[in-house]
Amino acid sequence: MPQNLTLNVNGQAHRISVDDPKMPLLYALRDDLGLGNPRFGCGLGQCGACTVHVDGQAIRSCTIPVSLVANREITTLSGLGTAEKPHPLQTAWIAEQVNQCGYCINGWIMTGAELLARNPHPAEQEVRDALSGLICRCGTHNAAVKAVLRASKA
Ligand code: FES
Ligand code: FES
Repeated sequence: MPQNLTLNVNGQAHRISVDDPKMPLLYALRDDLGLGNPRFGCGLGQCGACTVHVDGQAIRSCTIPVSLVANREITTLSGLGTAEKPHPLQTAWIAEQVNQCGYCINGWIMTGAELLARNPHPAEQEVRDALSGLICRCGTHNAAVKAVLRASKA
């Protein structure tokens, strides 16, 4: 039987109806709410492309059931900053020219943002450790580390 849930995303409450409460949060964000930043990469919790924040913690939305995050605070990349007032990581990503195809960016920035929220001035190794579980097919890893370090000094 369909279940009604409230998802609080980027400061707005959304009521959605789900047929399966175990459906991944990623599907609700993309298909029900039309948010394109969290990406489907592996669908197995292994690449990070689908990362969002739940109550400030970076989680992989492809593996967490939507019913577990009802009524909690969810932030996606589009909730981090705006074109007028970008998050320091968004500015740093452009300054360091990190992007190649861009598919993975969501995971790097959301994971980096969580790191900077709990550790505003991390050492390079701390940045590398925090980002170590992310996959980029285009090989942007080192540029992403530089961008997080740049944002930490902004
Ligand atoms: S799509 Fe979620 S971790 Fe890869
Ligand atoms: S920039 Fe292409 S997958 Fe990372």
